[in-house]
Amino acid sequence: MSDSTAAVSATPPELADVAPEVAEAVAPDREIAVEVGDNIMEIKNLTMKFGGLVALDDVSFNIKRGEILGLIGPNGAGKTTCFNAMTGVYKPTSGDVLLEGESLKGVKQHKITRRGLARTFQNIRLFGEMTALENVVVGLDARHRTSVIGALLRLPRHTREEKSAVERGMALLEFVGIADHAGTLSRHLPYGHQRRLEIARALATDPKVLCLDEPAAGFNPAEKEELMVLIRRIRADGYTVLLIEHDMRLVMGVTDRIVVLEFGKKLADDTPVAIRNDPRVVAAYLGEPDDEPA
Ligand SMILES: Nc1ncnc2c1ncn2[C@@H]1O[C@H](COP(=O)(O)OP(=O)(O)OP(=O)(O)O)[C@@H](O)[C@H]1O
Ligand SMILES: [Mg+2]
Repeated sequence: MSDSTAAVSATPPELADVAPEVAEAVAPDREIAVEVGDNIMEIKNLTMKFGGLVALDDVSFNIKRGEILGLIGPNGAGKTTCFNAMTGVYKPTSGDVLLEGESLKGVKQHKITRRGLARTFQNIRLFGEMTALENVVVGLDARHRTSVIGALLRLPRHTREEKSAVERGMALLEFVGIADHAGTLSRHLPYGHQRRLEIARALATDPKVLCLDEPAAGFNPAEKEELMVLIRRIRADGYTVLLIEHDMRLVMGVTDRIVVLEFGKKLADDTPVAIRNDPRVVAAYLGEPDDEPA
């Protein structure tokens, strides 16, 4: 990956023709608050088979500390499977995933979360009968080891930790922009707020790497714009972000680098500009152009 500040200040000539939205969306917030460079995660030859179906086929890529890495590809390309194999939802058929140099092989899902890998789900998974704040406090629990039941019953030995959990939970709701709805049952929240709440809950686990699976699904353009701002803020706060997203404007505008999957295989791994101009990627999305008429 190229140094992104350099990419902004010294625009190479071939970038001059890039559609304005890319530069306009990326330029203002390109400062990276943490050191970028070393690999925080390594995905090594990851393969995931479901019976005869190879959903992920020998996929390898790295995630660098402090970057926003996009993971794109047509429907069914294996993006969510990749998240699931990384975060312990699925046991990979073969290959390995390293977080800060340590293998996650055989590590249980909750322990992977505790090691610093958090994710949101393509289909929102919140506790509908809990308030927004409670959903976040439950997320905090993964790191802070508070007994949820103890916290909910307000047993004395939990009081101190519970208070800080509530304070932290409120701060996270503030951060994602839904603090006004802290007391609302999550199933009563508007859809966009539920997506934000999922992000807050994932952030509550204090992750090193945050994996977002189509966080803008169902969003209107204004909501997508706000989400881009939020994702940049998350990175500016020192998190590394892996983003699955179909919306090209959002992906191109917010990521530093993009990995493309097609039919479970890695098709490309490059800067947004290079990906946008890669004929293989265009073909993967739009289909190969028909041959000349017979
Ligand atoms: N648990 C499973 N059992 C069987 N097949 C599965 C399972 N999970 C995913 N698949 C299959 O693996 C392939 C990849 O699916 P995946 O959900 O990872 O795609 P995706 O890139 O996330 O697509 P989308 O953009 O539609 O979300 C698909 O053919 C899917 O049907
Ligand atoms: Mg998916």
